[in-house]
Amino acid sequence: MESTVLLVLVLLALSHMVRPCNCAGPCSSAAYEFSGLSKDGAFHFPVFHRDHPCVDPSPPAVHAASVSDAGVVMGNDKIHKGKYFMGISLGTPTVFNLVTIDTGSTLSWVNSESCQMSCHDQAAEAGPKLDPRRSATYRQTGCSDEACVDVHQDNGIPYGCIDETGTCLYSVRYGSQCSAGKLGRDRLALGDNFTVVDDFTFGCSVDDMFYGLEAGVIGFGNKSYSFFNQMVRQTSYSAFAYCFPSDHTAEGFMIIGPYPQRLELVTPLIRGYGRRCYVYSLLLLDMAVDGKRLQVDPTIDPRQILVVDSGTDDTFMSSPVFYALAEAVASAMLNRGYYREYGRDETACFRPASGEPVNWRGLPAVEMQFLRATLRLPPENVFHQQSAGRICLAFQPDTSGVRDVRILGNRALRSFRVVYDLQKMTFGFQARAC
Ligand SMILES: *[C@@H]1O[C@H](CO)[C@@H](O)[C@H](O)[C@H]1NC(C)=O
Ligand SMILES: *[C@@H]1O[C@H](CO)[C@@H](O)[C@H](O)[C@H]1NC(C)=O
Repeated sequence: MESTVLLVLVLLALSHMVRPCNCAGPCSSAAYEFSGLSKDGAFHFPVFHRDHPCVDPSPPAVHAASVSDAGVVMGNDKIHKGKYFMGISLGTPTVFNLVTIDTGSTLSWVNSESCQMSCHDQAAEAGPKLDPRRSATYRQTGCSDEACVDVHQDNGIPYGCIDETGTCLYSVRYGSQCSAGKLGRDRLALGDNFTVVDDFTFGCSVDDMFYGLEAGVIGFGNKSYSFFNQMVRQTSYSAFAYCFPSDHTAEGFMIIGPYPQRLELVTPLIRGYGRRCYVYSLLLLDMAVDGKRLQVDPTIDPRQILVVDSGTDDTFMSSPVFYALAEAVASAMLNRGYYREYGRDETACFRPASGEPVNWRGLPAVEMQFLRATLRLPPENVFHQQSAGRICLAFQPDTSGVRDVRILGNRALRSFRVVYDLQKMTFGFQARAC
């Protein structure tokens, strides 16, 4: 989620060699290969989970040995732990970067070589840090440029400019994380040097507080300067679709533009969420556990609007609905021989009383009922393994996430192909589609 923060900024520094992705095995060039512009005029490309062998340097990744720079640890920011990435190439010569796919924010940014304050560490697999001075096609965005004015206006940045050098500054915030730097334009390519946008607008981050190994964030929110909006202008249809694989070593996909229309379930897409007019939301009517509706206090309306946020792992819902869900799941789990464990926070965790391993095929059936679309969630979309013999619900009350924002996280939707059809204002689901 994006809002504002103002950070101090300064200017340039040194450069690095351009290094290609050095993963071996299944993530060698083939994994990063861009399928390109299809016959129907849509952009297709692969996406990865952060545990994909190309990304995660730690076990149990099968190819861990071939991945360098091991030991960089992921942060555990409650709402930004489960991420999915895609590869982009910026500049001339091109610099390859792995970035988080984020439908909950708009401006894209990458870690810059000219970091001035504190910048997050980047895994070798995420590519080198970008050095704008090394790119023949990089252009700084001026203070009076439309993109600068828009970014300032949308993020409430009152004086984000260095007038002497005509440098437009930006800052964005995501929960407890943030990035700040200079706004610029450069050539954006996907895959094998296939130019997609000649003057792609993005941020060169020179100061951040960011928990992750990736180079930065790519924004799909609805603003003229988001990655999605800059891409979709070149296609004939305003939509994007993706499938995030549950199996973290598998590959998912992303499509921008016209998409294969066959879908099992379709629900209306809601524009924005409160002041956040750039996000995409859905109306959740109710939930069910083992076919039974939740016992929510009848004086409370269980219906709620959720922001679809690909950059957040868990789903954050209204507290009364969360407690009813946790209760229903706990009782269904008790029948199956699991007891509930209470931790420091509000999460609902379970452990088999027998000490046996968790039987993933025997867990309660959980459904999310959206308007005109009931989603039966696979067990790995409902729970995550927290440690050996302990699983936790991937749902939390909104009080433990971003204040006043209810979020449909990416875990609930993994292995579904989801379609954001902005032309028809619908959201589609197709099970087992990766
Ligand atoms: C990529 O394409 C651009 C424009 O077509 C060209 O100038 C550049 O040399 C190419 N770079 C590589 C690494 O092939
Ligand atoms: C995207 O933003 C434009 C401009 O504010 C608006 O007209 C349009 O309805 C928005 N579309 C969606 C899907 O939010």
